[in-house]
Parts: sequence; structure tokens; C-alpha cells
Amino acid sequence: MCGIVGTTGMINGVDIVLEGLTRLEYRGYDSAGLSVRNPDGSLQVHRREGKIEHLKNLIEQKKPVSSVVIGHTRWATHGVVNEQNAHPHGNDLFSIVHNGIIENAYEIKQELMNEGIVFQSDTDSEVFLQLLTLYFKQTQNIVKSIAKSFERVKGNSAFVIMSKMDEHLYAIKHGAPLVCGESAQGQLYVSSDPYALTGLTQNLIFPENSVIAHLNSDEQKISFYELNSKLSKRYKVEDKLDHQDVVSKGEFEHFMLKEIHEQPLLVQQFCHRWTEPEKRVIEQSSDLPHLFIFGCGTAWHAGLSIKNFIEKKTELRCSVELASEFRYRQPKLRKNDIAIFISQSGETADTLASAQLCREEGIQTLSIVNVKGSTLYRTCDQNYLIQAGPEIGVASTKAFTMQVLTGYWLSENLIQNKSLKSGIKPVEVLAQRIQELLGRSQEIQKIAEEVYSKKSFIFTGRGDYFPIALEGALKLKEIAYVHAEGYAAGELKHGPIALIDSEVVNIAIIAPELMDKTLSNAVEVKSRKGVIFTVGDEKQAVQMKEFSDYFLGLNFEGLAELAPLYVNVALQIFSYYVAKIKGTDIDKPRNLAKSVTVE
Ligand code: M6R
Repeated sequence: MCGIVGTTGMINGVDIVLEGLTRLEYRGYDSAGLSVRNPDGSLQVHRREGKIEHLKNLIEQKKPVSSVVIGHTRWATHGVVNEQNAHPHGNDLFSIVHNGIIENAYEIKQELMNEGIVFQSDTDSEVFLQLLTLYFKQTQNIVKSIAKSFERVKGNSAFVIMSKMDEHLYAIKHGAPLVCGESAQGQLYVSSDPYALTGLTQNLIFPENSVIAHLNSDEQKISFYELNSKLSKRYKVEDKLDHQDVVSKGEFEHFMLKEIHEQPLLVQQFCHRWTEPEKRVIEQSSDLPHLFIFGCGTAWHAGLSIKNFIEKKTELRCSVELASEFRYRQPKLRKNDIAIFISQSGETADTLASAQLCREEGIQTLSIVNVKGSTLYRTCDQNYLIQAGPEIGVASTKAFTMQVLTGYWLSENLIQNKSLKSGIKPVEVLAQRIQELLGRSQEIQKIAEEVYSKKSFIFTGRGDYFPIALEGALKLKEIAYVHAEGYAAGELKHGPIALIDSEVVNIAIIAPELMDKTLSNAVEVKSRKGVIFTVGDEKQAVQMKEFSDYFLGLNFEGLAELAPLYVNVALQIFSYYVAKIKGTDIDKPRNLAKSVTVE
């Protein structure tokens, strides 16, 4: 989380940095700031609590002009959300921006305070600034001071540094994303995210961990150094990414709504891309690998759905792992096992750490990822791009659908197998069905208007719909700030049923499969005065309406195992309208960020 943008060169960089920060605002929006270097070398910091809009207003008044600029949009880790803790952090000599966490900040801070250094903020980031200043006073050498400071801090971080001494920028990272780029005219850029550099650079350069990038505006080029100051070759150059238009909301009020509406077309496009691979990941053999699927949040839910496909369609054993937990267990990995990582951003710290661990164990790694060129993309042996296009709403919608679809395809094409194959037909039906469902948004909105003020929402589903119950609840709590839980319908009676009263809504997914059992679970809730909103098979409308306060009838016909994705879109629309009625910040819900780049 946190977005970083910096530039140095011939032109005034303030607008460039502000535009880059605006693109990266989804990474954090607790505060924003930028530093400029005046021609006399003095450094000026402009910061504001809250969204980039606040910073833009300040810049509008102050009108700073500079060819060297660094900027930051913050998702708070250490230190409350206020202007004092906003980045950049600076003094007379340096100004720095930071993304990540310095895990040993407390002990270094104590040490520096004992030497009389006074801290201006409560952030861990300022520790790096103070170390840098201290070492520079001793060495008078910027690269050496950065190296010494960097060697002291633990954890995953990226730093960009501006100094009074020159018009250059410096950057370094460990385990956090960092990308540099050069324009044809010699303007130099650095960012935490290639997206900020779209349309600005002719290439993208990714330094490896512990490599110092030196953006030298005098020579109009970027050089790389090891921590011992020797020139480094540890960086990868890639052509600029496929041109991505900077996305706008178009006719929609929110990005989330736009992204929900993009799904029919994306699903249809997926059909056009459907081909059988020349070579399968797994050659049929007697010693079949165990598949480990990793993800966080929505991506983990996608993993649960994909596991169901794999178990149905192949002989493979498969487990789904929360990337944030995996490393702390004693997982038993074998050399021929396969690890699949699911991520929209490709920058989620926990997912990346698990990928790293699997690589160290020598296991084959595959990703199901949206952002081409992301750290995960560059880490894995093989990548399956979900091609959902930029997802800006913090609540993931279209990425989930495309992750699950990609997993569906993979489950049929991973291994030469004779088992169940459903193929492309249900995908075609899915595109049509989602389109029809979007046309019924008002119906769902009306239900949202009836129930939005209830105190709690329990989403239930069985089998293939259990991951959808989890995903439905996550979406609602994340954007509507309301208590919601996803439960396997059969588990309610083992505890959560104690919560049921007339203030609790049970959103019961009752699909044709396991209908009788799931239906009984909803009736049990009704008997305890719970409010029932059934999302179920339209063919059973009469029976379902008997115990339901609200009923959304869906046509499951022809969707085979993709029907859960169809149900999920109904839940996305429902959450969207509950949040809209509540007046929350739908695209940038409080306390969240789009990419979670801290562990
Ligand atoms: O970028 P990733 O897919 O790796 O992100 C994983 C989660 O942080 C993400 O899915 C999160 O749960 C979403 N905000 C859910 O809508």
C-alpha cells in the first residue's frame, strides 16, 4: 500500500507527480504530500490529511514549481492519520517517501533519540530519514549513506529520496514494488507502480532488492548501484506495458458499478480467448502433484471456487491457503507439488512472501493475476493473465469473476484427463445471464432499500456456493461498513444461529444442488424471526417465497459449475446499493487500500 511517484529532468514535475498520485490513490488515501527542490537547493514539503483532492487544493494555492519532485499517498501503518505523519518526511538535507514497514523502527528510534535526535512524526519512515541524515553527516556521500541506512532497517520497504545536494533522485527497495523509467526526452521517473508511469516512459526498469537506483538528471539516465557502491546489473528492463488508458468512470457514479457492468463483456471476451494449450502443466503420471492455491481476501475466495473445479474435474489433490498464514505453519511441500498464486494486483505482500517461499523450496509456481509486469508476474514460472483490465474500485468485483473463470479453464487444461469437462458453453451462458441480471438491478436495489438498516447480515451457501457466501459478506462489510459473515449453511446450527433475531438478515443462496438441505437451514432461521432474503432457483419460486421475506429468482439452467459466479454478481449489486444508501465512500472505503503491500 501507499503510492510513490517521483520525477526529475527538464520539466516542472509537480503536475506529473500529482497525476501519478491520483492514479495511485487506490493504494491508500489517508493523506498525501509532495516535496519540491528549489533552485537554491532548499526542500519544500506540502502535505495534507485525507485524499489527493486536499493536496491538490493546497498546491493550487502555493503553486510550487520544480524539476525535481517526489510524492506519496499514504495508507497509515505507524502513526495515526494526520498531517504530521503524512509523507514526505524531510529536513534541510533530505526529503523521503516510503512504502512498507520498518519492522525494527522502535529500537532504532530509541537508539537515535538517545543520541539526541528529535523526531517530528510517529512514523517508522522517519527512522530512515534520520539514519540517512546521520550517515550523510559522517560520510558526505549520498549513495553510501543510503546503503548504510538501508542495511539497518528490517522488513519490506521501498524508499525514494530527494536531496539538497543535487537535482537527482535515489530509490531502493526490499520486497516492495519499485519501478523506474526514462522518457525519450530524458525525463526520469520512479514509482511504486507501473500504472503511474503509463504513457510517460519508453521503458520500465525494475531494480532488484537492495539495488540503489540513481536517477541522474544531469546525464539523463538511471544508473544502478550495489550497496557497496559498485555498479549493479541487477535490474530488469521491460518495454513499456501495453498502453492502458487512464480509466475513467464514464457514465457510472462509481468505479465499482462500472466494473460490475464490465463483467458480461469480459466473460464474452474470455470465450474468444478459449483455446486448448499445446502443452499441459502436468504430464499424466502416477505421482500426481499436490496443488497449493494461495490468495488473500477475495483472491482466496476465488481459490476456494477453483479448488472445487479441480477436485471435480481431475484426480489432483488440492488445498487452498491463506497466504498470510501459510508461512507460519509447517507446510509439507514436495518437489513435484505445484503452487498457484491468485492476485488482482500481483503486489500483495503476503501472497508474494508465499511465492518466494515456494520458489525457495524449488516448487513450480503459477500465477492467476491481473497486472502484467507486477512483482508476482515476474516471480512465477508461468502466468495466466485474467485480463480484467484495470480494477480501480477497492472492492474487487470483475477481478474475482475473471480469476475464477481463469481457474475454471485451468482446471480443464492443467492435466490430460478423461474426467468431467464442461468446456466453453457455460461461459457463453454466463455472459448472457450476467447481462440479464444487470438489467434487474432495480429489483435488487429495492431489496437493499428494505433491509439496509438491519444490524447484521449472514450470507449462507453450501458446496460451490460457500465461497460465494464468504465473498458476498466480504463485499458488504468492506463497502457498507456493516457486520456481515459468510457461513456454510449447514454450520449455522453449530453456533451462529444464536445471533438470529429480527434484526439479522440471512441472505440464503439456495441453488438447485443441495436445495432441500439449504432450504431447511433457511427455514430454521425464519423460525427464529430472522429476515430471509433468498437468492434461489426461479423454478422453485413458490416454495421459496413461502418462507422468504425477499426473493430473487435466478435461472441456473445451462451454467453448470459457473452458476456461483452468476449468483455472486447479484450479491455485488446488493452490496453496492446497501453502501450507496448508507452514503459510504464506495470506491475508497475507509481504512482500506487496493493493494496490500504490507504483511
Ligand atoms: O490484489 P490482490 O488480489 O492480491 O488483493 C487481495 C485482497 O487484498 C483483495 O482481494 C481484497 O480482499 C479486496 N479489497 C476485496 O474486495
